[in-house]
Amino acid sequence: TFADEAYRPRLHFSAPDTWINDPNGLVYADGLYHLFYQNNPYGTDHANMSWGHAVSTDLHHWEHRPLAILCDNDEQIFSGSVVLDETNSSGFGDPGTAPLVAIYTSDYADTSPHQGIQAQSLAYSNDGGQTWTKYSHNPVLSRDSPNFRDPKVFRYKSGSGDYWVMIAVEAAERKAVLYRSEDLKHWTLLSEFQPSRTVGKIWECPDLFPLQVDGDPADTKWVLILSLEREEGEGGSAGVYIIGDFDGVTFTPQTKDLNVAGEATPVFGWLDHGRDYYAAVSFSNTPGDRRIMIGWMNNWDYARSLPTSPWRGSMALPREISLHTDNGRMILRQQVVDGLEPAGPPVALGRQDITHGVHALTQNVQELRADCNTEPCLIQATLAPGSSQEFGLILRQGQDEGTWVGYDIQREQLIVDRTASGRAGFSPLFPSRETAPVKLAGDRLRLQIYLDAASIEVFAQNGQATVTEQIFPSPSSTALSLYSIDGTAQLIGLTITPLKETLT
Ligand code: FRU
Repeated sequence: TFADEAYRPRLHFSAPDTWINDPNGLVYADGLYHLFYQNNPYGTDHANMSWGHAVSTDLHHWEHRPLAILCDNDEQIFSGSVVLDETNSSGFGDPGTAPLVAIYTSDYADTSPHQGIQAQSLAYSNDGGQTWTKYSHNPVLSRDSPNFRDPKVFRYKSGSGDYWVMIAVEAAERKAVLYRSEDLKHWTLLSEFQPSRTVGKIWECPDLFPLQVDGDPADTKWVLILSLEREEGEGGSAGVYIIGDFDGVTFTPQTKDLNVAGEATPVFGWLDHGRDYYAAVSFSNTPGDRRIMIGWMNNWDYARSLPTSPWRGSMALPREISLHTDNGRMILRQQVVDGLEPAGPPVALGRQDITHGVHALTQNVQELRADCNTEPCLIQATLAPGSSQEFGLILRQGQDEGTWVGYDIQREQLIVDRTASGRAGFSPLFPSRETAPVKLAGDRLRLQIYLDAASIEVFAQNGQATVTEQIFPSPSSTALSLYSIDGTAQLIGLTITPLKETLT
């Protein structure tokens, strides 16, 4: 391990000195957003999985709370969700109160009577999430399966009475399973979702929720979220979304072309085109029904070898998502939730040509050096292709080092290349060059880039495509450059806003 707090995220949630992975139990209750998360309370490896806990009023400034649910000799506490049980349907609350109920995966130890399986269990809190009690009759739902996990529970509103719905996965079978309950304790199977033509090797951390199309309350679609472990060498962990309908029993995806057997393929989109956005799930019970997601900013390909110490792993920024029609297609749009504050006045650059080559913004970089090194910033840029073939920005640039964020005009692709971004040798799977299909809009590319000590999150064209990547640049690599290949591109405008760190 490297004793190197230079990589400590300044805007992103991390644990002070332990391992974290998936966000769990995202719920809003009594004025607080709760972030539970997969945590090893004893170290920086993926072991002793328990639920850590933090709370926030604005989703950016998190206050650490005592560990919520601790593993024991019998089980590790794997991923799951929390609901506010408003009617005390579970009976876990004192009369007239609404308990918080966690639905988590029990990953049973070899010494457990349930050895060899994963099943769904409950814990409840009657003090706003501070302390948790495991239900004495756990597990509440088993399929006698070694890979049945990651329950996400929500309240389904139906004309004939509301009920709880759980979506979970048979991870190795690449199948989502849906169950129904009246009291969170007894579950009956509703349906299974397993397209014949599918993606990924393992499915994890599903979510399912309604979203209005173009903000129209009369037009609602359902969005299925899945996290996928891909085949060896195909990029590791990533999330997808599938748009469709849910009638309270079955999820029906929108499909395209039939294969030889006459089976349709669900249309899916990548939730993020980078390597570091996984296990993203949404908050339940948010005010105004906003759909806000948090993902783990990491990848199982190298999560265990990240060169950070004494912590390992962080969350991506919270994103509000919405559904839009675009050229007859439906797309998700993602925006970072408001609440990050400027740490100083923005530096602005006006319209200028970017001639062939790499151009360091020397003059302005002098002022930016301090801000963009240890302090995070938001870079907003509008660019036009001009006569070039490719153009863009180089971030955290130093000697032989830099993270390239560009656009390939011919292929209509956003490019994020971190092969020379800094320290990368900790895993052969880390160096990467990602592309995302992105169309110019009125001949313009608009980028919002959140640059933190060890990551970039790129939002292109108003959040229609996002690319999230960890980077480990040398502390001295602080320059920002513009580049153009085979011709002259145009910078229309660029601002760099230093952001106040949100660490508490
Ligand atoms: C996803 C995951 C989940 C599991 C948890 C264990 O990253 O593998 O499927 O519940 O992490 O920590």
